[in-house]
Amino acid sequence: MSGAEFVVVANRLPVDWSPDSAESGDGEGSWRRSPGGLVTALEPVMRRTDGAWVGWPGRPGLEVDPFEFDGVNLVPVALSVEDVELYYEGFSNETIWPLYHDVIAVPRYRRVWWDSYVRVNRRFADAAADVAAEGGTVWVQDYQLQLVPQMIRESRPDLTIGYFHHIPFPAYGLYSQLPWRRQVLEGLLGADVVGFQRVADAGNFARAIRRLLHYETRSSRITVPEADGSTRSALARAYPISIDTESYIELAKRPDVQARAAEIRESLGNPSKILLGVDRLDYTKGIRHRMKAYGELLEDGRLDVEHTTLVQVASPSRERVDAYVQLRDEIELTVGRINGDHDTMDHTAIRYLHQAYPREEMVALFLAADVMLVTALRDGMNLVAKEYVASRIDNRGVLVLSEFTGASDELGSALRVNPHDIEALKDTIMRAVVMPPAEQGRRMRALRRKVIENDVERWSRSFLDALEVARAEKGRRP
Ligand code: G6P
Repeated sequence: MSGAEFVVVANRLPVDWSPDSAESGDGEGSWRRSPGGLVTALEPVMRRTDGAWVGWPGRPGLEVDPFEFDGVNLVPVALSVEDVELYYEGFSNETIWPLYHDVIAVPRYRRVWWDSYVRVNRRFADAAADVAAEGGTVWVQDYQLQLVPQMIRESRPDLTIGYFHHIPFPAYGLYSQLPWRRQVLEGLLGADVVGFQRVADAGNFARAIRRLLHYETRSSRITVPEADGSTRSALARAYPISIDTESYIELAKRPDVQARAAEIRESLGNPSKILLGVDRLDYTKGIRHRMKAYGELLEDGRLDVEHTTLVQVASPSRERVDAYVQLRDEIELTVGRINGDHDTMDHTAIRYLHQAYPREEMVALFLAADVMLVTALRDGMNLVAKEYVASRIDNRGVLVLSEFTGASDELGSALRVNPHDIEALKDTIMRAVVMPPAEQGRRMRALRRKVIENDVERWSRSFLDALEVARAEKGRRP
C-alpha cells in the first residue's frame, strides 16, 4: 500500500479559502495559509515524509478534492450545514468546550449532537486510514476528534497513533457529568501517546481512566486491555505547546514593524501606559473580569484616561453559538458604559476592536503595549502570553498572567493573578503600571529565556520522539 508516512488529522485544514471579492458568489478565490504555530512546526516533517493533513476546509457545504498546497498534501473532509450545527457548534462547542473549561458556561448534553459527533469523527478517521501508508504515523489534534484514535486503530492496527489535547482536561467531578464519558476515554485511548498541556490535565485523565474504566495506571503509563485478552500500553503525559518564537523575534526586529508600534502609540494620543488584551471573543478568556477591574480603577481614580488606554482586540469566534452571541453583547455594553463614563474629547478609556489582524500588526501592538493582560478563567495554554514575551526583544513590558492558564506553569516571572479576585486583579494591574524598568527587564529576560528555549519545534519534536518510541515497542511485540 502506498500513501503518506505521516498524517495529521485536525478539525481544520491549515488553509483558509478567501474569495476574490466579497460579492463573488461564483466560487472564485484562492487558498491562503492560516496563521498558527502548529502548521509552522509540522511543515518540515510533512515535507520530509510526504505527509498529508486531513481536515475541514472551514466552510459549511464546501466540497473539495485533495490538493497540494505549499508542498503539503491536503485531504479535505466536507462538513454539511447540519454537521457544522450538530458536530462542531453543538457537541464540540456547546458540550465539550464548556465542560472541559470548568463549566464557565453551562454545557448542554444532547443526544443528536453526540450521534453527529460519532458520525463525523468516523469520517475523519476513515479519511486518515485511507491516506496513511502501511506502518505510518498519524497525529490527531484536539477535542473535536476525541473518538478518532480508536476508530483508526480498529481499521488500521499497523499505524502508530498520537493524540494531542490542546484544551484543559477537567477534574473528575466535572468530567463525570458527560453522558458519554466512557466512550470518549476509550476513543482517546486508541492512541499510543496521549498528550496534554499540563501535568494536572494528564493527572485528571488518568484519574478518570481509573475510576470509569478501572484500567491500571502507573506514572504516565496506562495498561489497556485488548479484545483478545492481551494488553498494550499507552503513554499519557504533558507536552506543553509553544509558538514559533523565532518568527516573532524576526518581526519585532523589522524597522517597519517598530515604526508601526510608534504609530499605534501616537494614534492613541501617546498615553504613558498602554494596557493590552488580545483574545478570541470567548467566555473562557476573562475579558469581562479584566474590564471590571479596569473600569473600577478608573472609577477609583487610581488610573485616568489622560495617561492610560486599554486596547482590547477581541477576534470574532463561533459566532452562531448562543453563549458567544451573549458574551459579545455584554462586552460591547460594558465597553460602551466605561467609555461613556470616562472618555474625554481627546482620550478614550478602551479602544475595542472586534477584528482579527495579521501577525505583523499584532507584533507592532505587542511592542506598543506596556502591560499585557491575560486574565483567562481557564485556558489550555494561552499562546498570546508567549507571543507577547517573544515580541519584547527590548526586554520591556509587563505580563499579567492568570494562574488558570497552562502558560502560568512555565512563566513564573510574570505577575500571576487569580482573575476571579477583582481586588487582587486591580492591585496587580497597578503593580504592572508602576513597575520600574529594571524590574521589567529582569522579569522579561527570564520569561524570554523560557519562550526561546521551549518553542513549538521542540514541542513537536518531543511528541514525535515519544511516538517513535511507541512504534519501536510495537515492532518488538509478538
Ligand atoms: C482553540 C482550540 C482549537 C481551535 C481554536 C479556534 O484554540 O483548541 O482547536 O481551532 O480554538 O476555534 P475554532 O472553533 O474557530 O476552530
